[in-house]
Amino acid sequence: MDIKIVERVKEEFAKLFENEATGCVFSPGRINIIGEHIDYNGGNVFPAAIMQGTYVVFRERKDSVVRVFSENFSDVGICSWDISDTQKAEEGRWENFVRAIIVTMKKMGYAINIGFEAYIVGNIPNGAGLSSSASLEMAIAVLVDMQNNLQLDRVALVDIAQKAENEFIGVQCGIMDMFAIGMGKVDNAILLNCATKEFTYAPIKLENHSFLIMNTMKRRALADSKYNERRSECELALAQIKVEFEIDELAELTENDLIYIEKLLANDVLFRRVKHVVTEQKRTESVLNALRQSDLESVGKLLCASHDSLQKDYEVTGKELDALVFYAQQEDGVLGARMTGAGFGGCAIALVENAQIDTIIKHVSEFYSAEIGYSPEFYTTKIGIGTQVIRWKQD
Ligand code: GLA
Repeated sequence: MDIKIVERVKEEFAKLFENEATGCVFSPGRINIIGEHIDYNGGNVFPAAIMQGTYVVFRERKDSVVRVFSENFSDVGICSWDISDTQKAEEGRWENFVRAIIVTMKKMGYAINIGFEAYIVGNIPNGAGLSSSASLEMAIAVLVDMQNNLQLDRVALVDIAQKAENEFIGVQCGIMDMFAIGMGKVDNAILLNCATKEFTYAPIKLENHSFLIMNTMKRRALADSKYNERRSECELALAQIKVEFEIDELAELTENDLIYIEKLLANDVLFRRVKHVVTEQKRTESVLNALRQSDLESVGKLLCASHDSLQKDYEVTGKELDALVFYAQQEDGVLGARMTGAGFGGCAIALVENAQIDTIIKHVSEFYSAEIGYSPEFYTTKIGIGTQVIRWKQD
């Protein structure tokens, strides 16, 4: 949490709502180091919270009115409704992420009656695959839980945020983003078994290396519908495989099973989707082992192999991500690079030598702009803490 941002937003809150804010919820964005598109297939994922995030500076109200303002969508102005209202606002409006949490909690039977005012600022680029929406949803879940004195544990709030995204927003996302955001720990990635929700923290010691985030700046047009399409393909493949295999999730399959499975699936597309899931599951385990041995060279190679599989077998990259990753992979000081998150545009990550970062950015930027026609953006980051609250004034 950047205290300078909190101080500034606190002042903005006072100007806009003509009252003092009482606290701030900070909720980070996330990168996924590896384990892509396997959370909803019962796989192991390896995400980490980042320093960039969403700041929700708030004040409780005495009534049940919600008034929220986002600096990232300042043209929309203050959005206001009664907390008992379960409607969705117009499609695409940012306030739906706030409504999603409240409505989901209410539907689950929780007594949510206390309204609030919030001034929201995010420094995660929107729609760039770094989970700006899950970050906001987790922040609101923590805020609503606190104000209504529900005392739900963090994993329960993570589940609520996923349910809100699935049911209210309509994106069939897995559990990974909310989990990484809600449970993040400084300098640690989270190895999460998405079938059982068992998790362990894995210290990330990169010596003189770091993860560089590279943004294609490609708008993720149709990303949600393509994401849901991949999910349906996996469900279809699972149903066809279950005729002969006793499995609950695709990630239970091994590489040896693949030879046999090809015959069970209706077409090559479904086979390639399953192949990605199975090989990515293996790569996640291999990355963890390589990190334990401080073998960053191997980590880098596995990141590249992951991108290759997402490009050719899962087909969720697109020319912008492929170009960005390709040019990064050519650079001295880059051990490996891959897309991160849902894909179809958005961001990639590269494991880079710190001393070379400026040169890498310059070269990749030039090559990418020449090929794609506009410039990418780059962000350095650290692995940070999960959603947290500070309160500076109790009424
Ligand atoms: C999005 C979803 C996650 C996960 C990734 C792909 O970020 O929200 O649940 O499926 O895509 O790994």
